[in-house]
Amino acid sequence: MRILVTGGTGYIGSHTCVQLLERGDEVVILDNLSNSKKEIVDHIETITGIRPVFYEADILDEDALERIFSAHAIDAVIHFAGLKAVGESVHQPLRYYHNNITGTLTLLAVMDRHDCRKIVFSSSATVYGTPASVPINEDFPTGGTTNPYGTTKLYLERILTDLHTADPRWSIVLLRYFNPVGAHDSKLIGDNPNGIPNNLMPYVTRVAKGILPCLSVFGDDYPTHDGTGVRDYIHVLDLAAGHVAVLPCLDQPGVKVYNLGTGIGYSVLDMIHAFEKANGIKLNYKIAPRREGDIAEVWSDPSKAERELGWKATRTLEDMCRSAWEFETNQN
Ligand code: NAD
Ligand code: UFG
Repeated sequence: MRILVTGGTGYIGSHTCVQLLERGDEVVILDNLSNSKKEIVDHIETITGIRPVFYEADILDEDALERIFSAHAIDAVIHFAGLKAVGESVHQPLRYYHNNITGTLTLLAVMDRHDCRKIVFSSSATVYGTPASVPINEDFPTGGTTNPYGTTKLYLERILTDLHTADPRWSIVLLRYFNPVGAHDSKLIGDNPNGIPNNLMPYVTRVAKGILPCLSVFGDDYPTHDGTGVRDYIHVLDLAAGHVAVLPCLDQPGVKVYNLGTGIGYSVLDMIHAFEKANGIKLNYKIAPRREGDIAEVWSDPSKAERELGWKATRTLEDMCRSAWEFETNQN
C-alpha cells in the first residue's frame, strides 16, 4: 500500500514507518517538525535501507495537502500528527483544538476530494476519562476527559464516526493507545521530546543520564498497591505492530475501535525499580504532590485486538526499560 503517515517523524510514527517499509509498503511522511527532527528520516533510512518520501508540512495547510495527494496516489492515511502534552493543553486549549481538530478536518476534506477514505487514527486511553473499573474494554463509556488534549481525541473519534455515518464508504480505525515506552533496537529512534519531558519514561532516562537532577513521583497516596499511579506501559515496537495488524480492516468500510495495551498495570515505583534492575542503575527520585488531572489507575483489556486481529504485545517490561536506556545513552 501507499500510505501517508502524518506525524511520521514523531515517536510512535517513526517506529511504525520502519515496520511499514520493512513489509514493503510505500511510505510518504508529512510532519511539521514541531516535536521531532528531520534527521529521523535519515535514521529510518539507515534502519530499513529505504528512504521514505518526506514533506515538511502542516496538516493545517490545505494547499500543501492538495499537492501531496496530487503527487502520490495515497491508498490510506495513518494519522499520528497532533499535539499531545496534557498539561500544556490545559493552558493552551485553543492551540490544541485548532491543531488537532482543525488540522484533522483539513486532512479529511482533502482525503475525500482525492477519493482516499481509509484512515487509522491515533486515539488514546484518555477518552475513557476516569473508568469505573479496570481493565477497560472498548465497550466502556467514553467521555469525562479531564483536559483539552483528551477532549480533542474524544471529539475526533466522534467526528470520524459521524463521517462514516454520512458517507459509509469510509474505513476508519480508532486505536486507543495506552502508555508507549521503549525504543527501536538500533538505538536510532525513540522517545526524544523537545524540552523537559512530561511523560514518565523519558524523564526517568534523563535523570539516569544526569541531564535532569531528580524524578518527582507524583503522589504516593493513591488507592493502588503501593500508593503511586498505575498505567499500562506498552513497548513502542508492539504498538507499531498494532498499526500493521489493523491495515486489513481498511479493506472493509466501517468504524473499528481497538485498545492497544498489554493488559498489565505497573505503578510508578514498579517502573523505577524495573528500570534500576534492567540497567543496573540507581535513580534519584522523591515523592511529590499529585499531578493535576492524573487518575489512580488505568490498564487495558486488549483481548479484542488479539481475537480479531491476531495482535498481542509480546515484549516485557525489562525490554521496555533496557531499550529506553540504550536509546538515551546513544543521544548526544
Ligand atoms: P510525537 O509528538 O512524538 O509525534 C507527533 C508528531 O506530529 C510530531 O513529529 C509533530 O512534529 C507532528 N505534528 C504535530 N502537529 C502537527 C501538524 N499540525 N502538522 C504536521 N505535523 C504535526 O507524539 P507521539 O507520542 O508519537 O504520538 C503520536 C500520536 O499518538 C499523537 O496523536 C498522540 O496524541 C497520540 N498518542 C500518544 C500517546 C503517548 O503516550 N505517546 C498516547 C496516546 C495517544
Ligand atoms: N509520573 C510521575 N513523574 C513524572 C511523570 C509521570 O510520577 O515526572 C507518573 C504520572 O503521575 C502517572 C505515570 O507516571 O502516574 C504515567 O504518566 P505519563 O505522563 O507518562 O502518562 P499518562 O498516563 O499521564 O498519559 C499518557 C500520555 C497521554 C495518553 C495516556 C493514555 O501522555 O497522551 O498516556 O493512557 F493519553
